[in-house]
Formats: sequence, structure tokens, C-alpha cells
Amino acid sequence: MPESPSLVIKGGRVVDAAGEREADVVIVDGVITAMGADLSADRTLDAAGCVVGPGLVDLHSHLREPGKEEAETVESGARGAAVGGYTAILAMPNTTPAIDSAGVVQQVLELGRAAPCDVLTAGAITVGRAGEQLAPMAEMAALGVRIFTDDGAGVQDNLLMRRAMEYATGLDVILAQHCEDDALCGGGHMNEGEWSARLGIPGQPAEAEELMVMRDIALARLTGCRIHFQHMSTARSVEMIRAAIAAGLPVTAEATPHHFTLTDAECRSYDPVFKVNPPLRTDADVAAVRAGLADGTIGAIATDHAPHTPETKELPFDQAPPGMLGLETALALALTELDLPIAQVLAALSWNPARILGIDGVHGSVAEGRPANLCVIDPEETWTVSGSAMASRSSNTPFEGRQLRGKVRHTILHGEPVVIAGEAQR
Ligand code: DOR
Repeated sequence: MPESPSLVIKGGRVVDAAGEREADVVIVDGVITAMGADLSADRTLDAAGCVVGPGLVDLHSHLREPGKEEAETVESGARGAAVGGYTAILAMPNTTPAIDSAGVVQQVLELGRAAPCDVLTAGAITVGRAGEQLAPMAEMAALGVRIFTDDGAGVQDNLLMRRAMEYATGLDVILAQHCEDDALCGGGHMNEGEWSARLGIPGQPAEAEELMVMRDIALARLTGCRIHFQHMSTARSVEMIRAAIAAGLPVTAEATPHHFTLTDAECRSYDPVFKVNPPLRTDADVAAVRAGLADGTIGAIATDHAPHTPETKELPFDQAPPGMLGLETALALALTELDLPIAQVLAALSWNPARILGIDGVHGSVAEGRPANLCVIDPEETWTVSGSAMASRSSNTPFEGRQLRGKVRHTILHGEPVVIAGEAQR
């Protein structure tokens, strides 16, 4: 006897890596038990006119807990994620304290247990993300941590990064890099170029990202370590990653929605909502990031969801922290702005990141016998972005007031609807 009432998602078009087909999807006890025409169950969720896809997977969420609960909590971030169609998110370790030990990993995983989205966590590469001493990656890996990063900062020291890669290779885990050479950034607050010169805001050159991409490709060649490049933002970064993949190196990459939609020209408002690291770049960079997504060089769209309170984000441009919200707008931005088939958008938002994270047995597919982690999308519904209407505790979206196409209707987590008709259920 099933423990919970069965559920059918009715009238949608199923899209996953296996292809596209019209099918109702029946779920019993958290698992997809049948797919086909005219199926019924105890409960029905309407998917007429919708795409039934696997739940989205984010490789890059700042959940701010522990330490900055006024900006976000694991719970509020996970709720925003569910509204955005995500069924799994990876917490970044730049919390206070940093997620650099088994104790803090356990704390974050515990906080995520009752959340409306699976919460995984990355671990820091170095103690306190200070870039000086390797963190105890083995004890974090023993708790299931699969990705390590000092995100918010890159590992500056070449030899330490080599040692981190050797350590990671032995543990069979992935290092993810926030590519930014601190010295070359020179304290810049936006992209260095025509706009920084005009606005009188100190800039950081594209080369500050590219030098670290170049170094880490070289170190991946030297050590054999799997390296994932976070939030790639420049044309030459994309070019180097394309060449590294063609050379057979174990390299993957992500790009954020803001880096494929916005340029440094936005900073002309002096509004810090457009301040982010890496910074918004030029039209040519945006075009290159889009081309990288189109040809698969950049396999994942990741949000870099970075909530900040108004008290900090409304400081003057040079004093405000970098970062912008992403979880509730990523899918719609990809559908509205990228000229790609929906299956390719879902590949970048769901099954590719699920594979990178090693959770593709649980997330990233719609198939009989698989756990029911799903997202039902109305690809034609238009809506207007409003920071204050978001589930996030913060409202720092650079897309305020923008009309987007594509809305999440329902999100199903382990068989339970956590979002119904766009409304979070818990
Ligand atoms: O803009 C950013 N904000 N980039 C980062 O790498 C960190 C993030 C944050 O934590 O706010």
C-alpha cells in the first residue's frame, strides 16, 4: 500500500535528456511510477500547455547561513529556489564562519533537511577561505561534499592551488574556482574599460579573471584534477575553456544569467544593484558567453544568487558589497534572452549541473523508477520581476520591473508539490 496519496501531473510535454514526449506523469511515494496517456491518480496537478522538466539544479547559491541571516537563511533561500523551479542547490562556503570544517558542513546540511529544496554544500578549499592553508577536505568529503571552492575569492597562491588539486584528485572531488587575481584587480569595483573611465569608478581588467583561468587550466593539466570554472564572464575565458575541453582536460564551466544579459553600461546609474563579482562586462563578452552556452563550452547556468540587505546594498557604489539575486529569475531569463531550444536551456539548468554535482541519479531526469524531482514550466506566461515579491529575504535584483517570459507553475520535491500554481506551499 502506498504511504501517501498518488499524484498525476497531467497534460504536459515531458522534456529531459532522453527527448521530448507528451505524457502524464504518475508519482507514488516520491517515485515516478508511470508515464503515458490518460493516467489518473488520487491528486492531479494541471500541466496543460506546460513543459514537465526535471527540477533545476544550482551550482552556486549564497545562502548566508551561518552568519548573515538578516540577508538570507538556508530556509528562505531554498524557498526562493523552489519558486524558481530548483529541486537542488549548492550552498557557497563564504559564510561566517566559513564552511571549512565537518562541523559547519553538518550544520548547513542539518538546516537544509526540512527545506523545500535539497540543499547540498560546497566546502572551502582553504581554512577560513584565507588562501593560506588547505582546509580538511577529506573530513568534509566524508560527509558527501563533492565540490570545494573559496568562492567570493580565488586561491591566489599557485603552489597552494597545485597542492589543493593533488589533494582533491586523491579524494575524487572537484575544485571550483572563482577566478580573480586580487593584485591585478587592484580594488576595482566594476569592469575596467570605457564605462569605468567615463564614470570615474576604479575598474578591474578582464585579464584579472583570465590569468587565473589560464593558470588553473595549466594546473589541471599538471595534476589531472577536475576543475569547474565559476561565473565565467569574459570572451577570452570562454575561448580558453573551449580549447581546454578540446584538448581533453577535465574542465567544466558555468555562466550566470546576469553575465549573459547585462553589460557594464548598467553601472552608469551608479546603482550598486549592478555591482557584482566578476563584474558585468562588455557586449562582446556577453555575446561570447552566449556562444559558449550555445556550443556547450559552458555546460551550466548557475545563479550566483547573492542576497544583500538594503542597509549594505544601498551604500555608495564603491562601498556596497558585490552580488545580486538569481534563484527566482534564472529560468525566465534563460528562456527570454537565450535563443536556444528549451531542452538546451534545461540541460544547462538541470541535468548538466546534476552530473557535475554527482546527483544525477536523484535530480535531472523524468523517467519511470526515478525520484520525482520535477519542475512544471509554462514557457509562454509573461510576468514582471519584483524584488519585494520574492521569497528571498533580500530584494537586490538588477532585473526589477523587467517583463520576462517563462514561469514555473509547480515544483515537485521527492514527490511532494512544494510549489503549486506559483505559490510556495511551505
Ligand atoms: O558578486 C558576488 N557576490 N560575487 C561573489 O563571488 C560573492 C558574492 C557574495 O557572496 O555576495
